[in-house]
Amino acid sequence: LATIDFDVSKVMEGQQVVITWQGKPVFVRHRTAAEIQRVIADNNASDLKEPQTDQERTKVGHEPFLVVVGSCTHLGCIPTFGTGDFGGWFCPCHGSHYDASGRIRKGPAPLNLVVPPYEFTTDTSVRIG
Ligand code: FES
Repeated sequence: LATIDFDVSKVMEGQQVVITWQGKPVFVRHRTAAEIQRVIADNNASDLKEPQTDQERTKVGHEPFLVVVGSCTHLGCIPTFGTGDFGGWFCPCHGSHYDASGRIRKGPAPLNLVVPPYEFTTDTSVRIG
């Protein structure tokens, strides 16, 4: 399917759901206030390899939700949440650490986790693609 609709109200704070879009895993994460605070505080961190603010990676009014393709930008392994050094994802294949904005902070991956094209079509519904 080119586009997929997803009800984000199913994702509890602090949790993520993995959906499949165009054959790829997409993480829909409902971030906690502490996670959001930390990634905003790091918007200008010097270790950002692909500098982006958290605001550039989320939608206005829906900041708790982060939508990213769940594929490490190094060689495509699936990162896991909660085990890295930056409060976000860790890729066990070669040790890439992403923050809770999906930005690469340490390790061989060159780029941030990709934010796919998406929009909120209602307060709780996201259309990806
Ligand atoms: Fe993730 Fe290499 S594939 S670090």
